Amino acid sequence: MPQENTHDLSPYWSIRLALGSPIRRFLRKDQEQVKLDMPVLETARLVLRPIVPSDLNDVSAWFPGDPDGAAKAQNLIDFCAAEYCVRGIGPWGMQLRATRKLLGNCGLPHLDVRKRWGEVNYFVAPQARGQGLAPEATIELLRFGFRDLGLTRIQARCDPENWSSERVMQKMGMTFESLVDRRPPVKGASAKQKVYTILRETTNTAPDGSTPT
Ligand SMILES: CC(C)(COP(=O)(O)OP(=O)(O)OC[C@H]1O[C@@H](n2cnc3c(N)ncnc32)[C@H](O)[C@@H]1OP(=O)(O)O)[C@@H](O)C(=O)NCCC(=O)NCCS
Repeated sequence: MPQENTHDLSPYWSIRLALGSPIRRFLRKDQEQVKLDMPVLETARLVLRPIVPSDLNDVSAWFPGDPDGAAKAQNLIDFCAAEYCVRGIGPWGMQLRATRKLLGNCGLPHLDVRKRWGEVNYFVAPQARGQGLAPEATIELLRFGFRDLGLTRIQARCDPENWSSERVMQKMGMTFESLVDRRPPVKGASAKQKVYTILRETTNTAPDGSTPT
């Protein structure tokens, strides 16, 4: 039986909370910000690509029954546009090949090129959960991070009661590392978060990034 996801942050807020964290780093080499290219990534069922204004209807459907759904979707699309402009990369939309519907997003909101460290996050629309789309997308994002960005360590965080998210981390091949204080604290949210990590050396990505499978 699928478990109820008890910490169902909206895509807008889950991304904004992640980006609001003080541990966020723009990609910097010395003090110079590096702007990255954002490639389209592909998996068996998904095309991972930038979220654009014409996605408004699909993104609005991520907020079923919410009268402010369209406004939240527009905010998210505006936020994505700003991210693509400033960082070069931002949330990747998860587009299902079969229907061309955009069903969620994932990204690398925290990156530190000098430390070769990154953090992944993800969201799947309520109506599309339980089909393994999040792990399918994020495994491809891990490959991109290790192979193309040269990262050596990628982490993800979730609230302790967010079992669905923790399962995604496990399916990505990550292992539990620690329980940390949420920084900054968020009213109404868990004070602690679980941190899961994966190291490039424990994946089958070659050191030169040439043959990820
Ligand atoms: C966490 C989330 C991305 C999982 O995406 P997904 O594509 O449903 O992932 P999976 O299909 O691999 O399911 C993962 C787990 O979710 C649970 N699950 C399954 N069906 C589910 C459903 N319909 N609704 C909620 N959770 C479900 C199961 O525990 C499953 O693990 P299992 O396959 O071992 O049974 C999605 O639930 C989501 O977007 N949640 C809200 C945002 C969020 O929590 N993001 C992570 C922030 S850290």
